[in-house]
Amino acid sequence: MSLQRHLLPVLILPLFLPFISGCIQEKGRQEGKETVIIFKHGKIAGDPEPFRQLLDRFEKENPGIKVNDETLPASTDEQHQFYAINLEGRSSDFDVLSMDVIWVPEFARAGWLMDLGHLIQEGERDEFFPGPMHAVTYNEKIYAIPWYIDAGLLYYRKDILDKYGFLPPKIWDELVHQAKTITKNESDLYGFIWQGKQYEGLVCNVLEYFWSNGGDVIRGREIVVNSIENVTALRLMRDLIVTYAVTPPLVTTAIEEPTRHIFGNGRAIFMRNWPYAWNIFEREGSPVKGKVGISTLPSFPGKESASTLGGWQLGINRYSRHPDAAERLIRFLTSYEAQKTFALTIGYKPTRKSLYRDRDLMKEQPFITGLYDVFMKARPRPVTPYYMMVTQVMQPEFSAALSGIKTPEEALSSVQRQIEHIMGVAR
Ligand code: GLC
Repeated sequence: MSLQRHLLPVLILPLFLPFISGCIQEKGRQEGKETVIIFKHGKIAGDPEPFRQLLDRFEKENPGIKVNDETLPASTDEQHQFYAINLEGRSSDFDVLSMDVIWVPEFARAGWLMDLGHLIQEGERDEFFPGPMHAVTYNEKIYAIPWYIDAGLLYYRKDILDKYGFLPPKIWDELVHQAKTITKNESDLYGFIWQGKQYEGLVCNVLEYFWSNGGDVIRGREIVVNSIENVTALRLMRDLIVTYAVTPPLVTTAIEEPTRHIFGNGRAIFMRNWPYAWNIFEREGSPVKGKVGISTLPSFPGKESASTLGGWQLGINRYSRHPDAAERLIRFLTSYEAQKTFALTIGYKPTRKSLYRDRDLMKEQPFITGLYDVFMKARPRPVTPYYMMVTQVMQPEFSAALSGIKTPEEALSSVQRQIEHIMGVAR
């Protein structure tokens, strides 16, 4: 029995139970002469209407195919639970699935995905950013097509920084100084908010501090998580909350959307989030319209800023009964035109590099050209079929360090030991 099959059920089976009943019922797929495909994806942020319109356009261009899109919870961890239980149970209840950039090696290794190599023509590989392309490739085969890309960004209130004569901070200490100075006068504002709940988003946040201090988790074949650089980085995150008090304790229970709401209601100076939030801030009636700037995240002195690579990829369930129709939908949604519409309306950023020179996009979202470099440099979380085990070790330890239950040293030495065990058994 492989390590993954052996450990996975123990780690996550209790969490699956609520989903089991959903996969027992088989859904009727053929309605009249129509082929109905089921497309599962996470909740679309903001207004979902433009997304439905995109699917309507697909149906119009592909008579005889109907797409039922079914939304899963917003958090990546909950979506993963849904897929793991249903795919392990060989469910054919859905055809197309949207996958987080960290899952593809695991799903491909488990045999849950169809090989989609033929959807990317020779030479077309380079059309996509290298990070997601690497993430969808397992044993030299392509199992999903990159749909939209994410990387961690610093959002700041341009108007407030201007008022105090500050430029966007390049160093973490500078951010602390600015947030403290401003909140001393404007006590109704939070300084800096980010995602600190015990979930995958916390790992994305923590890694940005590690990397921006020259640290890492795995380097080549070596586990390097218990380092002085990472201890300093994790300590800073705790200090933001406790010592400097520029981050409210509520971040330790916050995921992306609550932080986006706080910042979007004009209640914070700085926020770490993914690129999607900008479109929502610029909508008519938004309290922060025209007042938001975007920058790369700060770093430790003399070190480089770092963003975690995120994003979602489309794949086909190995047990789908409609792979041809599913393939058509994936081709459509990952095309230049559909990615452009998606970026303009919802704000999810294209995985095709040429869109960063698209006139309409550059006009509507001038910062998009700057994002090109951020996406080229964004750092992947460890690309391994065992990533879910690695993150399930990191999440509680990082969370314990943030809430002061463990010191950063204790948390990191425990992570080191546990990852060494996982990877040692895996090798
Ligand atoms: C975003 C990213 C994804 C990441 C998740 C964490 O959805 O695209 O890669 O895992 O946030 O919350």
